[in-house]
Amino acid sequence: MMREQLEDLRTRVLAELEQVDSLSALEDLRVKYIGKKGELTEILKGMGKLSPEERPVIGQLANEIRQKLEQELEQKKDALEKAQLEARLQEETIDVTLPGRPVATASRHPLTQVIEEVEDIFIGLGFEVAEGPEVETDYYNFEALNLPKNHPARDMQDSFYITEEILMRTHTSPVQARTMERKEGKVPVKIICPGKVYRRDDDDATHSHQFTQIEGLMIDEGIRMSDLKGILLTFAKEMFGPDQKIRLRPSFFPFTEPSVEVDISCVMCGGEGCRTCKQTGWIEILGAGMVHPRVLEMSGYDPKRYTGFAFGMGPDRIAMLKFGIDDIRHFYTNDLRFLEQFNRL
Ligand code: DAH
Repeated sequence: MMREQLEDLRTRVLAELEQVDSLSALEDLRVKYIGKKGELTEILKGMGKLSPEERPVIGQLANEIRQKLEQELEQKKDALEKAQLEARLQEETIDVTLPGRPVATASRHPLTQVIEEVEDIFIGLGFEVAEGPEVETDYYNFEALNLPKNHPARDMQDSFYITEEILMRTHTSPVQARTMERKEGKVPVKIICPGKVYRRDDDDATHSHQFTQIEGLMIDEGIRMSDLKGILLTFAKEMFGPDQKIRLRPSFFPFTEPSVEVDISCVMCGGEGCRTCKQTGWIEILGAGMVHPRVLEMSGYDPKRYTGFAFGMGPDRIAMLKFGIDDIRHFYTNDLRFLEQFNRL
């Protein structure tokens, strides 16, 4: 009786197995027939009723059948898995001849590129990068730089005032006083400060009401004009090439004494004379000088003991020279057709 039941089970399982076409159906089949609570287990519960002679015979048969079925199921499982993999490979075939989709790469703004290059050069010379606010007080923007209220030199920098005492900074020079205060009279002070500045200019090809500057300040005992010249020459060579020359011309700034304007030999013609340098062979790139004793004193440095130099340069001008850009307004109008041309770094 049990023998027939077992053989019948085997026949049914093998027949059903033929029809199975998925791994989940296969698993259902396994659970139903040879799982822990499956039909085979049910049948074997009747073992107790068998005679002692029959028991080992039926036991052996049951084991054979279980083994056979397990084997068959395993084989089927392998076959199904293989078929599934084949189907997936078929489905996911990549057509390597299809043209790729171009990856859109962003690029840094040409001014950012120039500012970062200048930063790298000065960091290499031991300077730190400092920052200051764009909305500034009259005190830091003018007074602490030896430009008292009503001083005529204020006229050089038409300003956007927010209140009587607060304005959009007209230059990065206020960071000089802020840095000296922060350093509390300690030396050396060696900083550069890049940032945006604002002036009430009429915009044209060379003027914008918003532009950028990089301030530099170095204070220590025994700093001299020759240190300023050496640092600026090193900078010019790093920035524009090893053959660069610089030229210092006397000038005036209220916060430096003596003051100079610094030219580099024309990067377009190498000093021969061309349209860019207006046939002079030189291009002005920055203002500089020895920090005025009153400026040192106002921010807590004893001018009898310490001296220093400062400079302020315009990255807009440098970027225009470097990339051959003819209009400063391009930097601030965010036209992608312009910006996408500087995707080199
Ligand atoms: N702040 C000046 C300007 O905006 C530039 C300048 C000149 C900065 C001489 C300096 C300096 O630090 O020493 O026109």
